[in-house]
Amino acid sequence: MVLRPSSISCPTARVAIVGSGNVGSTLAQRIAEKNIADVVLLDILEGRPQGLALDLMEARGIERHDRQITGTNDYADTASSDVVVITAGLPRQPGMSRDDLLKTNAEIVRTAAQQAIVHSPNASLIVVTNPLDVMTYVAWKASELPPRRVMGMAGVLDSARFQTFIAMELGVSVSDINATVLGSHGDLMVPLPRYSTVNGIPITDLMESATIDRLVDRTRKGGAEIVELMQTGSAYFAPASSACVMVESILLNQSRLLSTAAYLQGEYGLTDIFIGVPSRLGCQGVESVLELNLTEDE
Ligand code: NAI
Ligand code: 2OP
Repeated sequence: MVLRPSSISCPTARVAIVGSGNVGSTLAQRIAEKNIADVVLLDILEGRPQGLALDLMEARGIERHDRQITGTNDYADTASSDVVVITAGLPRQPGMSRDDLLKTNAEIVRTAAQQAIVHSPNASLIVVTNPLDVMTYVAWKASELPPRRVMGMAGVLDSARFQTFIAMELGVSVSDINATVLGSHGDLMVPLPRYSTVNGIPITDLMESATIDRLVDRTRKGGAEIVELMQTGSAYFAPASSACVMVESILLNQSRLLSTAAYLQGEYGLTDIFIGVPSRLGCQGVESVLELNLTEDE
């Protein structure tokens, strides 16, 4: 008796991840092990994406899924992806200004968006590379996609951090907490206590304002706190989980309302900018942006 591989190929959801560093490779693991899609990992480093893909494939017998994970240095191998996630970029090096980093990463992101979308013209594009809001704009311009198909990941991560700190402070399960963080990914992000709840109860009813201020401040500095602890590199487990939630909402057309760096055309009084706002993510990308009623302070 001989069993040979089938020659029939069936369409399956596919995600291309550009940049197979810490965030990219962890995201590949999340997507495959949650059985969401096949994954193509791409990196400029020869061998790295191929090695990581083989390692993830070898884990399948234990994790028990049949997702295909491949690694490549050639954008042609990412063809027909449904979602492209850009995590490629350099961290800040000693002696490098923010401006230098911005220019270097802008060039990387511009090329990545152009190249990836040439081969996957129907994909939605999620940007992770920092500085996030600006890189998302660069990717949109380079890709020439309609704005709703381009978005940045940061708000899901910042909200997850706020949720974690609220759960730790109150001693309740994080599963019961929904938190909202809007704005840019950095010191000027806007955690919204009024729209952050424990099973529907606003945290403003459950905590003193000084406590809330402390948690808001920790959320704003959440990325820096981890860099300080790690010394080399930055957070990647929670960032990968956050990007995975966005990929899942698009591929499964879940229409989840997630804080997303979306293109604004007058919403919140802002135009021609990508910034974190509550966005409904489905198979068309950013299907709509919700305008919250904000107070002057917020
Ligand atoms: P990393 O250094 O581990 O990985 C970056 C990868 O990009 C490396 O493997 C590198 O070889 C690759 N790369 C560089 N130039 C490339 C090119 N031209 N084409 C293809 N690949 C290229 O960094 P990590 O930790 O994975 O972070 C990636 C980016 O994501 C950084 O810019 C980081 O600041 C950002 N980030 C953003 C977050 C957010 O909330 N938006 C959260 C965490 C990280
Ligand atoms: C973070 O917030 C570095 O943007 C990254 O962890």
